Amino acid sequence: MLSENTIKIVKSTAPVLAERGVEITSYFYKTLFEAHPQLLNIFNHANQKQGRQQTALANTVYAAATYIDQLEVLLPAVKQIAHKHRSLNVKKEHYPIVGEFLLKAIKDVLGDAATPEVLQAWGEAYQVIAQVFIDIENEMYEEANTHKWEGFKAFKVMKKVKESSLITSFYLQATDGSDVPAFQPGQYVTVRLTVSGEEYLLNRQYSLSDAPGKDYLRISVKREGAEPSTLGKVSNYLHDHVNEGDEIELTAPAGDFVLDESNKSPLYLISGGVGITPMMSMLKRVAEQQTDRAVTFIHAAKNSEVQAFHQEITETINLLPNARTYNVYENPTASDRENKTFDLEGYIDYQKLQEIVTDKEAAFYVCGPVPFMRNVIDALETLGVKTENIHFEFFGPSINLKEY
Ligand code: HEM
Repeated sequence: MLSENTIKIVKSTAPVLAERGVEITSYFYKTLFEAHPQLLNIFNHANQKQGRQQTALANTVYAAATYIDQLEVLLPAVKQIAHKHRSLNVKKEHYPIVGEFLLKAIKDVLGDAATPEVLQAWGEAYQVIAQVFIDIENEMYEEANTHKWEGFKAFKVMKKVKESSLITSFYLQATDGSDVPAFQPGQYVTVRLTVSGEEYLLNRQYSLSDAPGKDYLRISVKREGAEPSTLGKVSNYLHDHVNEGDEIELTAPAGDFVLDESNKSPLYLISGGVGITPMMSMLKRVAEQQTDRAVTFIHAAKNSEVQAFHQEITETINLLPNARTYNVYENPTASDRENKTFDLEGYIDYQKLQEIVTDKEAAFYVCGPVPFMRNVIDALETLGVKTENIHFEFFGPSINLKEY
């Protein structure tokens, strides 16, 4: 239990930390990795370079400080982060290390403003916050353990299928022959690779793109970046060097952007680009388990050259008597026009959604690049859809949509 005084100090200094949050967390990561370079085997170097991880951590620390006396308010956000931590094999013994360097960063960046009293209060607060994460993650590890899948496990690529000029699917089975556990449509796995010439292991999260209950897991990977720079390192390696018969390592499925199967209300699955992957898992699950459900599948792509799963969507939609689909192309090719491969042209915006969305009480799932999601979510809210009915997921560290 934190004392009244500690709570008061933490809350009153939270705005100062918020103001210099990214400075503090950038310094934190730099000094952390200098002292413990082995942690670079866990962290995504591309997110570090873009500053997204620093922003995500700073936002969370600020939120935790603001709600330090009612941390239960933050539980949904904590759970989302805990899923990511569990999928990266973050363990309780890592927390004191992170705590030490976070406090050091607060001390060094704030200078005189970080009095011993302030540092003492933040040290205590960190322990309380860390314990909330550790307890939730512990439950998640126990759950993964019931499937005998704690940490990373080797998987063999059984099949590699090109879905579009940019997206390729990998069908994966455990090398030790163990079964694929049930997962919830929308969840992701962490892929870990050893890449020659790279000093550290590389980790990335990819959504599972097929329904659960198969004897394989499928991920569908977009080739990022024109050249295999930091941003596209893993995706380019998977596309160019990981072939049928090769092995990669995975952790058990994680994530809370999942289809609520207890909900029978109409369903809108809205995706942009490679944001289609979790939607495929959801759509295919509904086609197997909730065939009467009304489903609207809306997908935005540049044109048919980069659109994945065109055929698979059509086949799946045909299994659902109450389903419809809209392909929205930003820049259709001449052959798209000739073959009528798309339904609407331009972006998915308020006007289009106003015509398509007939039920504002429906469940909405949105996934895609940040600007796409911001536009779609704003448009849905303007249409009168309640925030609690809109579910969304970013690829990359969670950041505040409105501020990004
Ligand atoms: C991701 C917060 C402790 C390793 C994240 C994210 C947040 C966060 C907000 C972004 C989540 C997302 O991607 O959606 C925190 C807080 C901590 C904490 C508040 C302490 C109370 C730790 C510890 C480790 C760790 C102890 C292990 C060394 C990671 C890694 C990621 C992550 C590897 C994924 C980031 C990436 O690779 O881009 N954490 N974290 N975190 N955290 Fe933590």
